[in-house]
Amino acid sequence: MTDNANFSLSGKDFQYPVLSGTVGPDVVDIRKLYGQTGAFTYDPGFTSTASCQSKLTYIDGDEGVLLHRGYAIGDLAEHSSFMEVAYLLLNGELPSADELSGFENTITRHTMLHEQLATFYRGFRRDAHPMAIMCGVVGALSAFYHDSTDIHDARQRMIASHRLIAKMPTIAAMAYKYSVGQPFLYPDNSLSYTGNFLRMTFGVPAEPYEVNPAVEKAMDRIFILHADHEQNASTSTVRLAGSSGANPFACIAAGIACLWGPAHGGANEAALNMLHEIGTPEKIPEYIARAKDKNDPFRLMGFGHRVYKNYDPRATVMQKTVREVFEALNVQDPVFETALRLEEIALNDEYFVEKKLFPNVDFYSGVILSAIGFPTSMFTALFALARTVGWVAQWNEMITDPDQKIGRPRQLYTGPTQREYLPVGSR
Ligand code: ACO
Repeated sequence: MTDNANFSLSGKDFQYPVLSGTVGPDVVDIRKLYGQTGAFTYDPGFTSTASCQSKLTYIDGDEGVLLHRGYAIGDLAEHSSFMEVAYLLLNGELPSADELSGFENTITRHTMLHEQLATFYRGFRRDAHPMAIMCGVVGALSAFYHDSTDIHDARQRMIASHRLIAKMPTIAAMAYKYSVGQPFLYPDNSLSYTGNFLRMTFGVPAEPYEVNPAVEKAMDRIFILHADHEQNASTSTVRLAGSSGANPFACIAAGIACLWGPAHGGANEAALNMLHEIGTPEKIPEYIARAKDKNDPFRLMGFGHRVYKNYDPRATVMQKTVREVFEALNVQDPVFETALRLEEIALNDEYFVEKKLFPNVDFYSGVILSAIGFPTSMFTALFALARTVGWVAQWNEMITDPDQKIGRPRQLYTGPTQREYLPVGSR
């Protein structure tokens, strides 16, 4: 039975249906609110607004639960592969063995970039941030792959999705190679998705590159942990851009731009920089005090989350993965000790406990990525690579949603009312 929410405004009563999903909070359907009452709702940051229906990802922030198509992130990270998760997000079900190998084969055969795109890279300065390059190159894909930009054609949409997932490692690796002045490496189709990415990033044409299986596994897991995360800022950006009918490559470029910010995808870079700045465990109290000081803009990077008010389940897997990578590579980095100690101190501090601030996925990912050999500037690029799967799945879901409309929020106008224009000499 559908429930109703009662609403009164200026002495008049209105009723709005309450919709229930399969799990999670109910939502009040206020689509008719403006038409009936002439009022808008005010919700900066969309903290109480469901912008769409989705079957992809479910988060219970209070319980620290993250499910993709119903499967727990811990199970996927432990037992699945990034390719399998990509298939799951795009198609709704886990693949059979044949479906998985067919999908891997398709993705593998789309990994090369149009040769002319290499010229495009050369237009960037060598010290360009990889995210700047990725925004530009991914946006430019629409100029190279005209045959997959008709968003009303389901086949073209799927080809564009496969192209984006497949080409992202090549694009990210080339952004890295360009910054260090090494030649671009073509993809090697005999390798796994993740192994191929590692080779294109760290290999050189002068010698064979051997993929370290422990690093490959850890990297694949990091990709799984970042594959999708409900209606976060970059995903909402992709949906908003797509709602106007923009082509998929342009939409994903918009998502990359949003992800770049330090409050979102840039947080792991910021978290690692912070850990280096802290340096030793003795200096932790000083930084904790700064994070708590209202007059200091400093925040503990990698702590807090808009949705998780309990431990971020991805951070649990990430912390375990740090240990595995350190063991496999025989790394001893004091920064990990600082991170563990900082977590312990913060989790016992009244300020962080009261505000329910826990480590998020970014707190440990920077530590692992730097142990693997990535410079901090590549961290967000790796996030973008993995999140492309979620973005394209969400974009496809949006295009086929019968309720979909162009996204067009309204506002509470607080500027001047209409006034008379005076010529410059009379002001
Ligand atoms: N350090 C210190 N204080 C914090 C932190 C932090 N990391 N995060 C939140 N707070 C405090 C705020 O000052 C605020 O205090 P107040 O109520 O006294 O004003 C309170 O906790 C609530 O914070 P908001 O900013 O209102 O929470 P919101 O949900 O809007 O922000 C966000 C979430 C942006 C992630 C925030 O916690 C933050 O800036 N964290 C650091 C950046 C970070 O790690 N981002 C990664 C997010 S995960 C991802 O994108 C994959």
